[in-house]
Amino acid sequence: MAKIFITNREGEQSEIEGEIGISVMENLRDNDYELEAICGGQCSCATCHIYIDESWMDKVGPRNDEENELLEELDCVQPGSRLSCQIEFTEDLDGLALTIAPDE
Ligand code: FES
Repeated sequence: MAKIFITNREGEQSEIEGEIGISVMENLRDNDYELEAICGGQCSCATCHIYIDESWMDKVGPRNDEENELLEELDCVQPGSRLSCQIEFTEDLDGLALTIAPDE
């Protein structure tokens, strides 16, 4: 287990023990965070949008092409924007800090 630090849409901070080997989206969804994730992780809805804390962006890595296409259609994209279903949670990401993006 490894920690994920989360800021929700109300600005409240909390942390969870993340499950390794599943996506960040699945970790958030399984812990009842407000994240629609309508497509279930198929990279086709963009309702799992999060902002990776700046200090974690290098470690998490860049967006893939499909993510970029979906994120381009959103108004609230920021440099740290990612689709959380496209990030596998690994031991290396212990301590990951993220913010859940606004609902669009
Ligand atoms: S859950 Fe739909 S794009 Fe991530």
